[in-house]
Amino acid sequence: MEKIIVEGGRKLTGEVIVSGAKNAVLPILAATVIGANESTIFNVPKLKDVEVMEKILLSLGLNIKRIDNMMWIDSKPLNNIKIPEELVREMRSSIILMGAMLARTGEVIASYPGGCEIGPRPIDMHLKGLRELGAEIEESHGFIYAKAKELKGCEIQLDYPSVGATENIMLAATRAKGTTVIRNAAREPEIVDLQNYLNKAGAKISGAGTSVIIIEGVNEFKDVSHNTIPDRIVAGTYMVASAITGGEIIIKNVVIEHLQAIIAKLKEAGCIIYNDNNSLKVIAPKKINSIEMIQTLPYPGFPTDMQAQMMALLTIANGTSIISETVFENRFKHAEELIRMGANIKIFGRVAVIKGVKELTGAKVSAKDLRGGASLILAGLAARGTTVVDNVHHVERGYENFHLVLEGLGANIEKIN
Ligand code: UD1
Repeated sequence: MEKIIVEGGRKLTGEVIVSGAKNAVLPILAATVIGANESTIFNVPKLKDVEVMEKILLSLGLNIKRIDNMMWIDSKPLNNIKIPEELVREMRSSIILMGAMLARTGEVIASYPGGCEIGPRPIDMHLKGLRELGAEIEESHGFIYAKAKELKGCEIQLDYPSVGATENIMLAATRAKGTTVIRNAAREPEIVDLQNYLNKAGAKISGAGTSVIIIEGVNEFKDVSHNTIPDRIVAGTYMVASAITGGEIIIKNVVIEHLQAIIAKLKEAGCIIYNDNNSLKVIAPKKINSIEMIQTLPYPGFPTDMQAQMMALLTIANGTSIISETVFENRFKHAEELIRMGANIKIFGRVAVIKGVKELTGAKVSAKDLRGGASLILAGLAARGTTVVDNVHHVERGYENFHLVLEGLGANIEKIN
């Protein structure tokens, strides 16, 4: 089992270049099946989740070539409608292939993704939307079988702005007959990136980034090349790395607009942040200020994917902070591990109360999920003594060479098998 060992107490300084966004590239890779065309995608991060998506596309018959951070995909040879069960289990978000496959072949078989560490994460809104577009969906023995003679544009009102459901419906509607309107759509930047990719390939989609997305179905697609947006959560994580170590880090290849909620909270914590067009510099304060309230919300609210990292930071703040997690039901698993490192955290359902302590102390802790794992490594950077984080495979789902980048910034960190 891979572990990360951190000797805390070093200030991190230097520069980081942020990779392409995992949550943008995954739906874009799913979208490549739709058009029976060739796609060249740049800025594709080298991550476990991207590898799983690549394996799924290969199993569906697609031709793929990967050179560094470029991926070339030819979806003409698609010859399979079944998404391998073990790969769906490895990566929940592979479920967005349902919409893309329905658009391309009118038929798809996937296994049920099941729950995961951060809550039950149902897919009811995905299935409801696909049914409204005309798909017949049967769920039995853990499999989902979806079929549509013809997908027809319609008006879909989402009960909640789910990122995955918005993407799944957009993908299916791309080739549907007529116009689809998604209301209460998720507004995340990754959805705008998906719209941009699809429109370059010939789709007619507008409104992504707002809560109403309009998709006019088309049938002609062309070859496309696309540059993935930078990963705002990776950027945010390195911003916290600077803050928590008393450091000074320059973060390059960012879209400032996507980071506003994170910038605002780090400023409240006392950080000084400078930015120009596509880079920023985070200078830590001498002592972190507590934050009265962080509430996770759909974009442009504070991202749930940054909640764990901010919790790690607030464990050493001057005073008491409150975090309210409104997006996922069970996303405080990292709290009990932070407590092992000396943090003072109390959980009341979806609310965490964090009373700052003078310092954290190194301990043996376990990563339970991707962002929670990253938060423990961040805490280890600030703690006195040695922290050992096991189960770090979770962290590798979302960060390219995390320990090497941190080492490059001055951390005393190593990974062992
Ligand atoms: C995506 C991101 C994930 C991020 C999350 C919220 C990807 C690959 N993953 O996940 O990193 O944390 O957005 O920003 O992009 N829900 C339902 N029924 C549904 C769908 C969702 O009840 O059919 C609930 C979920 O359980 C959760 C909430 O809606 O409580 C938000 O989920 P959603 O926005 O769909 O997140 P994902 O797309 O799974």
